Amino acid sequence: TILILDFGSQYSHLITRRCREHNVYAELMPCTTKLQDINFKPKGIILSGSPYSVYEKDSPHVDPAVFDLGVPILGICYGLQEIAWNLGGEVSKCDHREYGPADLVMTKFGNGSVDALFNGLGDETRVWMSHGDQLSKPPPDFHVIGHTNSAPYAALAHNSKPIYGIQFHPEVTHSPSGKAVIGKFILDICGCRRNWTMEEFIGKEIARIREICGPKGRVIGAVSGGVDSTVAAKLMHEAIGDRFHAIMVDNGVLRLNEAEQVNIMLNKDLGVNLTVVDASDLFLSRLEGVEDPEQKRKIIGNTFINVFEAEAAKIEAAAEEEEKKGAEAKGRVEWLLQGTLYPDVIESISFKGPSATIKTHHNVGGLLKDMKLKLIEPLRELFKDEVRALGRLLSIPAQLVGRHPFPGPGLAIRILGPVTREQVRILQLVDNIYIEEIRKAGLYDQIAQAFAVLLPVKAVGVMGDQRTYEQVIALRAVQSEDFMTADWFDFPTAILRRISSRITNEVAGINRVTYDISSKPPATVEWL
Ligand code: XMP
Repeated sequence: TILILDFGSQYSHLITRRCREHNVYAELMPCTTKLQDINFKPKGIILSGSPYSVYEKDSPHVDPAVFDLGVPILGICYGLQEIAWNLGGEVSKCDHREYGPADLVMTKFGNGSVDALFNGLGDETRVWMSHGDQLSKPPPDFHVIGHTNSAPYAALAHNSKPIYGIQFHPEVTHSPSGKAVIGKFILDICGCRRNWTMEEFIGKEIARIREICGPKGRVIGAVSGGVDSTVAAKLMHEAIGDRFHAIMVDNGVLRLNEAEQVNIMLNKDLGVNLTVVDASDLFLSRLEGVEDPEQKRKIIGNTFINVFEAEAAKIEAAAEEEEKKGAEAKGRVEWLLQGTLYPDVIESISFKGPSATIKTHHNVGGLLKDMKLKLIEPLRELFKDEVRALGRLLSIPAQLVGRHPFPGPGLAIRILGPVTREQVRILQLVDNIYIEEIRKAGLYDQIAQAFAVLLPVKAVGVMGDQRTYEQVIALRAVQSEDFMTADWFDFPTAILRRISSRITNEVAGINRVTYDISSKPPATVEWL
């Protein structure tokens, strides 16, 4: 395991990801963690960047004992400055904040070789800088292993111990050799084995689930048809079979035929014990006349909890009946499955500043508080791409594993006006044509998210000899790494032409199609 100590940089989670991409397990902890509180022995430690300056009164500092552990240490940006601050170097403000690309020139040693951290990466590489401070004097016993035009101490190594510091950010994709540098550190210098794979994870996780659930007792969990909940459900099924009950709530604002498709896939193809509850009337009646998006979200969230609780109570009542009857009982409902992923966990544990208290999770809200369920979160160590890899290994269909995200409040936040059955129907048909054509064109996997938005405006059109007065659709497709920023997708015009013509020909009520060419920022991905 690699331990990443987080000083609050916006890139800290990416360091964790890059290590995992080398099949090395890495865990992020706040920089203020005391060594005695770490319950594993790391093979290496990475100190992250930070928005702070090491000299500020309140700036965060690592437990100095890490430097005596004898395990390799790599400081990135603030991490390098933290090493200097602790070991007798000097850090000062840059004349100009450096933000953007720079060329790192590796130091050549006597026999023409470069340091092990850069071995095989050539003489020079493009790196991404983002800092306001930099080293003005290296600590004693360190030597320079790389420099840039503006940073003479861009990369340092200790003369005899495995301690390294780099001013640039290897974890961002703007540093093309960055992932390789992290690989050199964790594989060559720390000697980590590449044993973090989903093949190994499945076996271990199934065993862990069996152990914590014990021989009796049931688990319930909601599925949405998305990747995370499907993978979590299938994993539970593999571990405890029919003692796991999946519940899908049809909220009336799902995509075309989605509830049926999920039912077929989970129940028939994957063998998961699933109940689909059609609560569309209840949801749509509560949404009647509501236009405010936050109000829509709140109604859908609360109604979901009501419906899910009612279904859970039925499962519990049936379990109680069964228990009365005899010995073969599978036990009462004891656990609630949550598809929490590692980014949510990171969000709650990462360093937020010297005085910030650690945020707790409340995905569950008030869910099932009367039933006093314990939480089980089999995906909480995984990033999204790891969940997808796991899904493939669990024989979940490729189409689902690669699916774009779909928001919990569904089509309700893509119908800009009030939500009615008729408006939902129009948007479902449009969405279906749009996604079908994107798939046919082979573009689905190049797009992070594509969807249609139904506008509450009518426009004039003409059909045959008839004048029409119908609604407008906006199509949106974006490319994005993490949805924090996004670019609109540049479709070939022939595809847009075909999609537009199919929509206006096949969907009654729409006579005009527009394409959204806004990036995030300043726009968001969704319209509401
Ligand atoms: P925005 O619109 O904030 O979207 O740029 C970023 C990502 O978040 C998704 N999103 C939601 N997901 N419930 C969800 O489960 C919501 O209320 C919600 N709002 C936005 C959006 O689809 C995109 O992937």
